[in-house]
Amino acid sequence: MYAIVPASANTIAKLAHGMADNLLTTAALASPAPLLIAPAMNDRMYEHPATQANLEMLAARGARIVPPGTGQLASKGEFGIGRLAEPPEVLAAIEEAIGGAGFAPRSLDGLRVLVTAGGTREPIDAVRYVGNRSSGRMGFALAEEAARRGAEVTVIAANVSLPRANGVDYIDVETAAELEQAAREAFAKADVLLMAAAVADFRPASPEASKISKTGRDGLTVELEPTTDVLAALAAERRPGQTIVGFAAEHGEGAAERAREKLERKGVDAIVLNDVSRPGIGFDAAENEVSIVTRAGMQEVPRALKAEVARAIIEVVEELHAEEVKTS
Ligand code: CTP
Repeated sequence: MYAIVPASANTIAKLAHGMADNLLTTAALASPAPLLIAPAMNDRMYEHPATQANLEMLAARGARIVPPGTGQLASKGEFGIGRLAEPPEVLAAIEEAIGGAGFAPRSLDGLRVLVTAGGTREPIDAVRYVGNRSSGRMGFALAEEAARRGAEVTVIAANVSLPRANGVDYIDVETAAELEQAAREAFAKADVLLMAAAVADFRPASPEASKISKTGRDGLTVELEPTTDVLAALAAERRPGQTIVGFAAEHGEGAAERAREKLERKGVDAIVLNDVSRPGIGFDAAENEVSIVTRAGMQEVPRALKAEVARAIIEVVEELHAEEVKTS
């Protein structure tokens, strides 16, 4: 474990881009040890898109980020996010990371975790499609966290152009039908399904094999037909001991109630609720803020990088799976 505490915006930028112009960054680049970073800087530097992108890049490569706290900053009279995390938090993160790095049994050792990520594209014609804004970041973060905890992870990736983690299997798909087929095959062997992909609910009923030309048309109507609800279909054929988590992008008021109803209707163990009406989180963003709805209640996960949110979700999944195994 190579822990950099505190890590400045400058050091984080160098680490993200593989620079090695001092002893600290040279050792980091040369070391095979897992990296832990506890950022400390002023709020504007921390919230700058460059710093956020650098942290996201490092997290995607497996670095553990200990999020900074909010409060009095080193610059006189300033208050905001960017304070170094409190020492007990940093220590707890180091201990957990060491436990998860092969020195001790890991919490998901021996489990097969299937993750769907990204957003499906449904062809209208040879060049156009109906799609959505999902980037796959949340699904990939979940896959990386599960792999870090020892799980054997398969990701069904629908149109995701993000860096891929070593030791995780990726199956690329484009459409909801392809995702359904791949998911059905992989689900049979999985212990846990994390259905983070944004799967189209409707697709063009008769896509054109060639490109539709606008010449001679004063409009275009595309008829849509429903796709299979993959999550509900897999949940309907689950075997005892399988844990299933759905995701829901909801807007505003009453979202939690609708998530509870969805949990029952689809027959899953948890719904991770994203309020997509809020700026800066959710679809195609580096950060997320979710509520995890289970039969036992609801847990709020405050706004954080998706890698951190993934840890909170996987912790709930571990509890749900332990419960599932006990009762099956
Ligand atoms: N999902 C799926 N297959 C679909 C559509 C969605 O497996 N054809 C999964 C998503 O991967 C996600 C969850 O279902 O885990 C999302 O549910 P959502 O689309 O919000 O549910 P709907 O029942 O379509 O809700 P709504 O009625 O609000 O559209």
